[in-house]
Amino acid sequence: MPAKRLFIKTYGCQMNVYDSERMADVLAPLGYAMTETPEGADLVVLNTCHIREKATEKVYSELGKLKEMREERLAEGGSRMTIAVAGCVAQAEGEEILRRQPAVDLVVGPQAYHQLPELIARSHRARGERLSAEFAADEKFDALAPAGRRAEGVTAFLTVQEGCDKFCTFCVVPYTRGPEWSRAPAAIEAEARDLAAQGVREVTLLGQNVNAYAGEGGLAALARRLAAIPGIERIRYTTSHPRDMDEALIAAHGELPELMPYLHLPVQSGSDRILKAMNRAHTAESYVRLVERIRSSRPDIAISGDFIVGFPGEREADFEATLSLVREVGYATAFTFKYSRRPGTPASAMPGQVDEAVKDERLARLNALLDEQARAFNASQVGKTLPVLFERPGRHPGQLIGRSPYLQAVHATAPDRLIGQIVPVRIGSAARMSLGGVLVVEELEAR
Ligand code: SAH
Ligand code: SF4
Ligand code: F3S
Repeated sequence: MPAKRLFIKTYGCQMNVYDSERMADVLAPLGYAMTETPEGADLVVLNTCHIREKATEKVYSELGKLKEMREERLAEGGSRMTIAVAGCVAQAEGEEILRRQPAVDLVVGPQAYHQLPELIARSHRARGERLSAEFAADEKFDALAPAGRRAEGVTAFLTVQEGCDKFCTFCVVPYTRGPEWSRAPAAIEAEARDLAAQGVREVTLLGQNVNAYAGEGGLAALARRLAAIPGIERIRYTTSHPRDMDEALIAAHGELPELMPYLHLPVQSGSDRILKAMNRAHTAESYVRLVERIRSSRPDIAISGDFIVGFPGEREADFEATLSLVREVGYATAFTFKYSRRPGTPASAMPGQVDEAVKDERLARLNALLDEQARAFNASQVGKTLPVLFERPGRHPGQLIGRSPYLQAVHATAPDRLIGQIVPVRIGSAARMSLGGVLVVEELEAR
């Protein structure tokens, strides 16, 4: 049977990246092999994101292009391309997608990917089959994991938790990913062992609220369990909510060498008035104290954050409170967003929607400050020797790229055999996004 070609385009967060890999895994036994472009693909899956308006709109413009591509190919006597929409737009808009873009064959929500083989078969029999995506996360993982996961490279994402019960007033995730749900520790351990056996050295545990992980002993216990697996040398996790950052997890950062000193801890705003309107359940003060506690457990930890500017009702003084929180915390890196009005969320109906021009201006000021901090953080590594896990060849011949414990990309001249190894690198240069260094040769020769 000739291989069928599968193209998956992934939008949004790392959980979608993980899900896209799992979709490829469940489709492989049906003869689908991945391709790099949609041209010539038999099945195209858009794994979508609903978080901001732009993310959603991108999907529809991409669908328009795919429709044309399919028509051209059919006119030339080629085979028919099946078009599927997965991910959070699929969950949020469901059949609305089929109405808006009749070229779509399948709509499949994030909890229904294990049903893909059957859905595709059905759609090939009867075009335009409509699907309902239900929340049955345990079923999803049970069905996807034993399919046999193929690891690529020395780092891997590993979803341990899905969904969100927090209902921040700006956010669609509780509606697209459903209630908080945690996988069983044993299933996660089995997946991690399998990854380690395939050469994976670093796992990043994923969840919309990963530190709300509710398996026995919480995320700290899970991290300890995974750290004991031979071959797993580094553990990261993302994304955390400040309110779920418990003492056991904070302590683990000081005790568990495998737990990397990097924490993505979104704060969204530095104004208590805005935080309250956002339903964040933390204040600027409690967040700053929390970061202090984490830093007393692990002093060198790199903190990263998410920020929203222009939430409804945000005044200049609120925005300045965000700037002063940023100055107080000191971020290694950060993600910043202009508030995007999402249909169905409470904030979309709030008074005091902020002008785009004001959002632009605040975003630029916030980015300038965070940029300065990121550069300073990177520059502070120059002269130090950091353990770097080399992941892949760099752009220049003879060069490898890896990651520091703080998640910075590090380039160094190094032989390919060091891919998958953690090697000491003396840092010589720093830029906004990456570091450059040289191998510490004496230590290497001893290997
Ligand atoms: N669960 C995580 C992040 C989920 S979404 C958390 O609680 O932080 C990732 C980021 O997108 C959020 O942290 C937030 O900064 C941003 N975001 C979510 N909804 C948004 C909206 N409507 N407009 C702008 N940014 C948004
Ligand atoms: Fe969205 Fe808030 Fe849940 Fe994060 S915690 S996913 S921002 S509702
Ligand atoms: Fe986007 Fe869904 Fe992730 S909305 S950010 S893909 S959880």
